[in-house]
Amino acid sequence: MKAIFYSENGGPEVMRYGDLPDPEPGPGDVLIRTRFVSIEGGDLLNRLISPPDPVPFVPGYQAAGIVDAVGSDVVRFKPGQAVVAFNWHGSHAELFATREDYVYAIPEGLDMQIAAAAPIAFGTAHDALVAYGGVQPGETVLIQGAGGGVGLAAVQIARDLGAVVIGTASSAEKLERIRPFGLDHGINYREEDIAKRCLEISGGRGIDVTVDLAGGKGKDLLVKALRPHGRYGAVGASTGEIPSFSFFELIGERLNVYGVSLGQEMHTQRVRDMVETALARLADGSYRMPIDRVFPLSEAIEAHRHVAEGHPFGRVLLSA
Ligand SMILES: NC(=O)c1ccc[n+]([C@@H]2O[C@H](COP(=O)([O-])OP(=O)(O)OC[C@H]3O[C@@H](n4cnc5c(N)ncnc54)[C@H](OP(=O)(O)O)[C@@H]3O)[C@@H](O)[C@H]2O)c1
Repeated sequence: MKAIFYSENGGPEVMRYGDLPDPEPGPGDVLIRTRFVSIEGGDLLNRLISPPDPVPFVPGYQAAGIVDAVGSDVVRFKPGQAVVAFNWHGSHAELFATREDYVYAIPEGLDMQIAAAAPIAFGTAHDALVAYGGVQPGETVLIQGAGGGVGLAAVQIARDLGAVVIGTASSAEKLERIRPFGLDHGINYREEDIAKRCLEISGGRGIDVTVDLAGGKGKDLLVKALRPHGRYGAVGASTGEIPSFSFFELIGERLNVYGVSLGQEMHTQRVRDMVETALARLADGSYRMPIDRVFPLSEAIEAHRHVAEGHPFGRVLLSA
């Protein structure tokens, strides 16, 4: 099969396009002929910081396509079905093998490109706001990185929870595009003081919850934006810098920090139910996920660069 692979950490240029042996699915696995690969923020972070294992390492958490073959123990899927699936690696290839409980049927009427972008974005946003964030109607929520894949899902879920939704992005134009998804207040993180704006919006009280998708130095401003006993969701580090907390920061602000790791719970019935609901809501139009651009698989280097540097709106896909 044709695939993208790398053997050392680094920027998009460490990736190669070429031939690799087809994956060999086990008895509990589904083999998918990939149509669309969603480039996840985690694919970029992994390439930068997680030692590739095995090598050559085929990156990629998520793709949609058509079931090509199923192992003898698989009961839910059969060849020919349109599906979207998660795995810890392997989506950047013409064939993607994964365990049955990581696979979702694409509901009738849902475009395969949008399905390709859905489970991780909506699942993570739901965990960050609902399962672990415990957001209540009327609470104030700040989403750092609101115009990315997880961010746009989070804006819509926070809107539906009845929260006051604050989001950050790199430009006023991008914030305007996020507004129809449910954004009440937009903050340009390059030009404005996030903490100051959040204090203004919350009448000096501080906000209740922040979902951090960017990490890096911006985290200090997010902590300042929170009220005492506020909740900080440690979800991502799209800046490439992992945030850390000092003891005095935690006790000084009486901070509640919670972590999200959707992949570790992807096989659970809880997550399966939640992702199936998100797919149904995308199919009926009550959720949306914009597709910024589609690159051929062979142009994964350019595509990853576009995600890292081009400030896309929503998801960037590869087509296999
Ligand atoms: N823990 C989990 O289970 C889990 C699951 C999924 C994703 N994640 C992580 O969550 C992060 C986001 O994922 P994604 O798929 O949504 O990525 P994405 O679509 O690439 O979006 C990245 C976002 O980060 C924003 N950003 C970049 N630099 C920033 C900065 N300095 N300050 C504020 N915002 C900044 C971008 O905004 P602009 O384009 O406007 O600059 C963009 O909205 C990634 O680090 C990913 O690894 C974690």
